[in-house]
Amino acid sequence: MLRNLLDPTDLTVGEIDEIMERALDIIAHREKYADACRGKKLATLFYEPSTRTRLSFTAAMMELGGNVLGFSDAANSSVSKGETVADTARVISCFADIIAMRHFKEGAPLVAAQYATIPVINAGDGGHSHPTQTMTDLLTIRREIGHFDHITVGLCGDLKFGRTVHSLIKALGRYEGVKFVLIAPDELRLPDYIKKDVCDAHGLEYEEVSTLEEAMPQLDVLYMTRVQQERFDDRAEYERLKDSFILDAAKMALGKRDMIVLHPLPRVNEIAQEVDDDPRAAYFRQVENGKFVRMSLIYTLLKWKEEGRTAEPDGHTHVEGPKCRHTRCISSIEPVKPLYIKGEDGRCRCLYCETEMEE
Ligand code: NCD
Repeated sequence: MLRNLLDPTDLTVGEIDEIMERALDIIAHREKYADACRGKKLATLFYEPSTRTRLSFTAAMMELGGNVLGFSDAANSSVSKGETVADTARVISCFADIIAMRHFKEGAPLVAAQYATIPVINAGDGGHSHPTQTMTDLLTIRREIGHFDHITVGLCGDLKFGRTVHSLIKALGRYEGVKFVLIAPDELRLPDYIKKDVCDAHGLEYEEVSTLEEAMPQLDVLYMTRVQQERFDDRAEYERLKDSFILDAAKMALGKRDMIVLHPLPRVNEIAQEVDDDPRAAYFRQVENGKFVRMSLIYTLLKWKEEGRTAEPDGHTHVEGPKCRHTRCISSIEPVKPLYIKGEDGRCRCLYCETEMEE
């Protein structure tokens, strides 16, 4: 397979460094990259609403001198005629040089990558993963704090459905001495597969607390997230949980002087506007970093394709199994081969959405 970005761990730590360094070089020498992707086309295939991510990809490609085509509403595309992600990926490969795909079903970008003949970037798949937001978060931490190791990161809000949180833990967990403080209501705790397969498997330090107040004093980074309304089956439960944690000036006063506050945005209620004026509020600076890091990523993936670089096997054993039972998995709407990743402990997780195989 080509080099894609479907999950943050598709990149080695060294490759993440390379992309960060290039993003910093882009920031310092914008003119040097103004024609870097001249004649290349990015296809943005967005099956789910987005403002920041899609426009950030578009702006990134434009600043590299390239062009952008695609759709922002699946209802206006052949999807409404019943076209599969697999077929769409084959077709778009004839028109563009690289794809950025957002989909409401988990694993859809992986299916696209299995059929596309151009690199695929996952721009968010259901409640699963969002690796380019993670690259954005990493560049922001790099610029604001200077390093990724030996930091304590508080993750607050919807840790169950928040795909940005899942990807960030996977990426940061590879650095030394990173500690996570998980701040969520019981109903929105981090999924077990991330606790077991990422945190426990890599010996990551983490603790779960129930208030922002008890977490604040130890944090270097506070990562706030919104409660993901669109992923709830029960509207009343969303209403009950949506204002579980609200960051305000009084809580900021408990934090370190050099802490930073990140948020992937959009914000709903979880950060009071009064916090915006605090110099530690880095979430609008984070948005701009998203454009620079996507410039770096597009440039790098196109370069790797030209060099003929292919992805190493992921090192996991893949086994066939029953159809995945998870309703948000791409396999619930498309005829994908039911494949599972077999862990060292013998447990099998769906290749597409990472849900554990039903016994
Ligand atoms: C996030 C997403 O789409 O997952 N937004 C984004 O990409 N900036 C976070 C969210 O929607 O809450």
